[in-house]
This record gives sequence, structure tokens and C-alpha cells, in this order.
Amino acid sequence: MRANKYLFLTAMLAIFSAASATDMDAIVKGCDDCHGDNGVSQWADVPTIAGMPEYVHSDALFAYQDNTRPCSESEYRQGDTSRPATTMCEVVADLDEATLEELALKYFELPFVAAQQEFDAGLAAAGQIVHDAKCDKCHSEGGSNPDDEAGILAGQWMDYLANSFAEYASGDREQPKKMKEKMDELSAADETALLHYYASQQ
Ligand code: HEC
Ligand code: HEC
Repeated sequence: MRANKYLFLTAMLAIFSAASATDMDAIVKGCDDCHGDNGVSQWADVPTIAGMPEYVHSDALFAYQDNTRPCSESEYRQGDTSRPATTMCEVVADLDEATLEELALKYFELPFVAAQQEFDAGLAAAGQIVHDAKCDKCHSEGGSNPDDEAGILAGQWMDYLANSFAEYASGDREQPKKMKEKMDELSAADETALLHYYASQQ
């Protein structure tokens, strides 16, 4: 009898200590309703999160939870679109650390798909020169290498990246110190050229 009681308690603990498989599926479905099926976004203001380096992803989720990264209000893009608009900060507010880490791993295992978007070839060529001089040291292979643990820039949506540049420039979003030194050197023309370079990698 005692053994049964122990087993029962262990089972109850397992149920309450982590998001169950069904809960996880529902959470992922909610993410994909904004970030696109399998984390590949069809919307220029929403980043693709498939293939995102695991620790960059979990750090981003912790920053949203701590309200240290700006999170703008967004409508759901698919599924039940009558749900009220929400923010990344609200989306992760009640999720525990283990669940956030599991989400980061789940999306890392999905293939990144470059956004199909328009770009100017001349600007892209100019952007490559800026990238190679100032960014490739940390964002290698044109900003496409997940092993850098620095986010995927190549093939990310231009609107989303433009918004990230603005958040870094205003100081609203934290960035590594050495990256800030390089970012501060960029002219507006350099930034535009970089955006076209990342968009050109499809
Ligand atoms: C209502 C729409 C919406 C939902 C739901 C949503 N997101 Fe987001 N997410 C966004 C938008 C818009 C951005 C970019 C702007 C911002 O930071 O607010 C973003 C940004 C992110 C980023 C930052 C990406 C980067 O490259 O730094 C991550 C990571 C992320 N979301 C993961 C998730 C996960 C995981 C879930 C589910 C738990 C989720 N999102 C649910 C809309 C949403
Ligand atoms: C010293 C290394 C370093 C340098 C140099 C650097 N970065 Fe970064 N960058 C990082 C790291 C690490 C991250 C991920 C962590 C974070 O978001 O704070 C990142 C994140 C980013 C992001 C956010 C991606 C996203 O998904 O939201 C952008 C955009 C970016 N870098 C652009 C640049 C550009 C453009 C340059 C060159 C002008 C540059 N970085 C130079 C290390 C660097």
C-alpha cells in the first residue's frame, strides 16, 4: 500500500512540475499562430524563429519575461484571430523556466527558411562590404551560422531587422558591448545596405 502511495505522489509531482506534452503542443501552436507554421514567418514584422540558436532564443524569452526587451503589441496572424492582440512579454509571463528552455530547443531543431522578399542588388553588394568589415566576426557566414549563438540575420525579414536596429540605437534593447561599438559606427546608409544584404540571402 505504501509503495502505491509513493508512486501516486511521484506521478502527481511529474504532472504538476512541467508542462505536459499536450500543454506543450498547445503553447507551440500559440507561438506558430504569430510566428508561422514550424516557426517560419510569413509576416515581415514577425521574425522567423525556426533554427534560432538555442541560447539566444531562451535569453530573448527571459528578457521578455523580465520586461527588459521592448515588446510591441501584435495581432494573432492565423488560427483563432479573434483573440485579443498581445505582446511577447505577456505571452511568456506565466511560463516557467524549463518550458522556455524547452521551447528554445524545439525551435532550434526546426529548419530555418529564408524569407522571400524584395531587395536591391546594388545595396546588397554595398551591405556585404559593411557586414564583412564590422559584423562577420561574430555573425559569420554572412550572418547565417547558428553556431555563433548570435542570432540569424541572413534571410530574416527586413522590417523586423530594421525595427531591431532602431531598438538598439535608442538603447531600448540591450546588446553586447563590442557589438554596440560597431553599431554606433554605422551611417543610416550603411544600415539600409546591411538590411538589403541580409534580405538578399534567400
Ligand atoms: C501575438 C503574436 C505573437 C505570439 C503569440 C508569439 N510571438 Fe514571438 N514575437 C512576435 C513579434 C511581433 C515579435 C517581434 C517584435 C517584438 O519583439 O515584440 C516576436 C519576437 C519573438 C522572438 C525574438 C526573436 C529574435 O530573433 O530575437 C522570439 C524568440 C519569440 N518571439 C518567440 C516566441 C515564442 C516561443 C512564442 C510562444 C511561446 C511566441 N513568440 C509567441 C509575436 C508573437
Ligand atoms: C562582438 C560580437 C558581435 C558583433 C561585432 C556584432 N554582433 Fe550582432 N549580435 C551578437 C550577439 C551575441 C547577438 C545575440 C544576443 C543579443 O541579441 O543580444 C547579436 C544579435 C544581433 C541582432 C539581433 C538579431 C535578432 O534576431 O533580433 C542584430 C540585428 C545584430 N546582432 C546585428 C549586428 C550588426 C549589423 C553588426 C555589425 C554592424 C553586429 N551585429 C555586430 C554579437 C555581435
